[in-house]
Amino acid sequence: MISTQIEDACQILGKNDLVGIPTETVYGLAANAMNELAVSKIFDLKKRPSYNPLIVHIGHMDDLEKYTQNIPEKAYQLAKNFWPGPLTLVLERKPLIPDIITAGKNTVGIRMPNHPVTLSLLKQLDFPLAAPSANPFKSISPTTAQHVEDYFGNKLPLILEGGPCEKGIESTIIGFENGAPVLYRLGSISEEAIEEICGPLNYIKTISKKPLAPGMLAKHYAPKTPTILTEEISPSILDNYKEKKIGLLFFKKANCYDSAYSIEILSKKAHLEEAAKNLYTAMHRLDKLKLDVIIIEKLPNTGLGKSINDRLERASKK
Ligand code: TXA
Ligand code: MG
Repeated sequence: MISTQIEDACQILGKNDLVGIPTETVYGLAANAMNELAVSKIFDLKKRPSYNPLIVHIGHMDDLEKYTQNIPEKAYQLAKNFWPGPLTLVLERKPLIPDIITAGKNTVGIRMPNHPVTLSLLKQLDFPLAAPSANPFKSISPTTAQHVEDYFGNKLPLILEGGPCEKGIESTIIGFENGAPVLYRLGSISEEAIEEICGPLNYIKTISKKPLAPGMLAKHYAPKTPTILTEEISPSILDNYKEKKIGLLFFKKANCYDSAYSIEILSKKAHLEEAAKNLYTAMHRLDKLKLDVIIIEKLPNTGLGKSINDRLERASKK
């Protein structure tokens, strides 16, 4: 059920049940992070493999030191600059974090989300919230309360209404190896913006089925419809799909593609922020049309364009 009642959400979470929560990136599927039973319900409902660790969401700066230790100076600088906001830090965990959250690792992902509803919820709770994106494993992340309802319906006691997500793609994840910052996942803060604060980033590419290191699967964020990613959508590409029901997804332009059944444009003004915000909503819409194929054109590979292209690569992976 979609609701605006934060008090109801507090009660349900206090009983170790799940609540859908809005964040500035995507909607999350939240549980009391200090309770193993509550957290196990997230893995069950999402059908998420237990080797994939969860992010802990906090509502106060002080919570950083409550749940993590040996924090590098650069992590403090990043938190100061970007929290509350779409940055997840992977840091050495304190022992009070349950093993189920970290998949047995000695690190934990932690972030302070920037959404008034969820910040208010976190301030009323005396525990932090474990929350992955509120979608079944590998599916497109939800950017509205209705997307969450469509995925889980009455299996989820409550979804807090928070409007459409402002950023539209997941948080950027930064870890530390030998004290140096490493980019674990591209996301809503561009790599360039992070580097302005903490200097050059090392880059982890974890394209494997069962990531040993932090967790990105090759296929992820994927529509059910077969999806193709291309440098440029041209008439000759469309010729390959004659007689097919085609959906097209463009960054900014869409010239004369009469053969397409549906066309999505992420940002007519060619703004990468606007494109990120619209990305998953457009993919959800196309995926509902029972198309034979979705053909997507890559974005310019700079700033948030890099993060969006990362998601598109995974969405179109066979
Ligand atoms: O924007 C977001 O980050 C959203 C909202 C709800 O906060 N959450 C989200 O969670 O995207 P999820 O579970 O869909 O993706 C979290 C990623 C996973 O790829 C996971 O492997 C990685 O974070 N992760 C979590 N803890 C980690 C750790 N200790 N070490 C390495 N990677 C970690
Ligand atoms: Mg996810």
